[in-house]
Amino acid sequence: MAMRKLSKVYQVYKRGMALCGGELKGKTAIITGANCGIGRATALELAKRQARVILACRSEEKGKAAISDIKRFTKNGDLVYKHLDLESLKSVREFCSDIIENEPQLDILINNAAVMNHPYVQTEDKIEINMSVNHFGPFLLTNLLLELLKKSSPSRIIFVSSALHKNGTVDFENFQNQQKKPYADSKLANVYFARELAERLKNTEVAVHTIHPGMVNTELSRHSVPQALNFIVNPIKFLLLPSATEGSQGIVHLATANLGKDTGKYYGKTGQEEKWPDISADTAVWKKLWDVSEKITNLNSQ
Ligand SMILES: NC(=O)c1ccc[n+]([C@@H]2O[C@H](COP(=O)([O-])OP(=O)(O)OC[C@H]3O[C@@H](n4cnc5c(N)ncnc54)[C@H](OP(=O)(O)O)[C@@H]3O)[C@@H](O)[C@H]2O)c1
Repeated sequence: MAMRKLSKVYQVYKRGMALCGGELKGKTAIITGANCGIGRATALELAKRQARVILACRSEEKGKAAISDIKRFTKNGDLVYKHLDLESLKSVREFCSDIIENEPQLDILINNAAVMNHPYVQTEDKIEINMSVNHFGPFLLTNLLLELLKKSSPSRIIFVSSALHKNGTVDFENFQNQQKKPYADSKLANVYFARELAERLKNTEVAVHTIHPGMVNTELSRHSVPQALNFIVNPIKFLLLPSATEGSQGIVHLATANLGKDTGKYYGKTGQEEKWPDISADTAVWKKLWDVSEKITNLNSQ
């Protein structure tokens, strides 16, 4: 086990070396859910590369704590907390108005925040909560920020997906009630959105990349594992799973590398391109979900 951990550390070291060239001075990045896990690790890596990093989080306390933490490892002081709660379309609209009003540019948008199998709740917008945080919130957010991303092009949007989207199904008649597999279903919806968005943006210089980071030791399983078992589960996760820093490397690669005209592609944990799983092959479904999402989020209302 120790050898496995050492070999993983070495791989990250090598990957880190490969990533060193990606200087981001003068660029602005938004990372949703950047107060912990993969999002915080990504924020640190982009801050090290001198980007202005906006941590879009729902808890001011956790967001600001993450900034203090990151500042211990980088001299970059250009880190900003902004409130964003993806459970609330009102909060998404307020966040985007603030960004559009106050940020002259946006070069990188990383849709990272997610919940996994949150117990069933209907949000204030009458959407099932996993669907709201993992799909409808990011749908509205990305669309409202599109003009700024276009104005700042070449720019890129990164969706942090999950290989588990392959197990999902999207029931178009039922976004309000309990989903069959809430995490997989909502992640699949997000993949349909990412693919349709890439198609709609193909004649622009706004690239859309989707990545699955593999299994990573973060807090994502908080709704799946009873807290009382954490004292056993956490050490096992630590020993067996890659750290958040390791899990962020592919995302950092997509945020920093020169990817030419690539867009609409799917990447694995190291940032290497993979074939899209067959489940999202039907383009008609992407369009259908876009139309339904436009209505549910009231995208075109003022
Ligand atoms: N970890 C894995 O094994 C794994 C595998 C495949 C894919 N992923 C993907 O990687 C991404 C990052 O997950 P992670 O593993 O780093 O999990 P994590 O440690 O649980 O981080 C999730 C982040 O999302 C935020 N979030 C949750 N609900 C939110 C809301 N309503 N509004 C705004 N932010 C919200 C959380 O904020 P709070 O702290 O306030 O809750 C947290 O900052 C996710 O998209 C996940 O699907 C992870």
